[in-house]
Amino acid sequence: MKKIVVLTGAGMSAESGISTFRDAGGLWDQYPVEDVATPEGYARNPQLVIDFYNARRKQLLTVEPNEGHRLVAALEERYDVTVVTQNVDNLHERAGSTRVIHLHGELTKVTSSFSPNNPQYIRELRPEEYEVHMGDCAADGSQLRPFIVWFGEAVPAIGVAADHVMQADILIIIGTSLNVYPAAGLVQYAQSHARIYLIDPAEVNVPYNRHIHTIRKGASEGMRELSAIL
Ligand code: OAD
Repeated sequence: MKKIVVLTGAGMSAESGISTFRDAGGLWDQYPVEDVATPEGYARNPQLVIDFYNARRKQLLTVEPNEGHRLVAALEERYDVTVVTQNVDNLHERAGSTRVIHLHGELTKVTSSFSPNNPQYIRELRPEEYEVHMGDCAADGSQLRPFIVWFGEAVPAIGVAADHVMQADILIIIGTSLNVYPAAGLVQYAQSHARIYLIDPAEVNVPYNRHIHTIRKGASEGMRELSAIL
C-alpha cells in the first residue's frame, strides 16, 4: 500500500464552523495570541487562558466533521494514511481517521502546569468535564492546564511526524498558511519522488521550492477533486 501523509491546519475545520487563526476576523484578531497561546500569557493570567480553552472545548460539542475530514478518512480504504494536524480539535478522529498526530496538542486533554509533556499527567476529559476551573489540579498538585503546545514551547511530536513525511509517497497539505514552524518545516522531509498536493482557497507560500500540485479550493471541494485523481 502506498503511504499518504496529510498535513492539515485550521482551514481543514473551517467548513465545520471553527474559525481559522490568520484570516480576516480569525481567532488571533479576537484574542491576542500572546495572551492566550503563550506560557507567558498563562503565567500572567491563567484564568483568561483556561476560559479561552473552555470556550474552544464547548464549541467542540457543537461542531461536526465536514466532508473534507470524511474524504481524508476514506483514503484509508486505499492507502496507508497518517494525518499530521496542527488542529487541536478532534474532527479527524470523529470522521474516522485512525492515525492522527496532533502537533499542537488536543483540546480534549489536560495536563500538569509543571510538566506538560509528561505522559503521566496527560488526561483525556469526558465531555462533562470540558469546563476546567482554577483550582482543578493535575496528579502532581499543579493547576490543570490545557494540553496545548503554545508559541515558544517545544513540539514533541515533530520528530515522529517528520519520520512519516520521509516515508510518504504522497503528501497532501490542506488548509494551513504554513506560517508556523516547525510544522511548516515538515515539507522539506518529503522525498524528491513524493508527489505533493496542496488544497487551500488562498495562495499559500510553500517553503523549500518544491513542485506542488495546487488545488485552489476549500477542503471539501478540494478533497473531492483530489480523491478522483488519486
Ligand atoms: P491559519 O489561520 O494560519 O491558516 C488557515 C489556512 O486555511 C489559510 O491558508 C486559509 O486560506 C485556509 N482556509 C480558509 N478556509 C478554508 C477552507 N474552507 N478550506 C481549506 N482551507 C481554508 O491556520 P494554521 O496554518 O493552521 O497554533 O495555523 C497554524 C498554527 O498557528 C495553529 O495550529 C495555531 C496557530 O496559532 C497554536 O495555537 C499553537
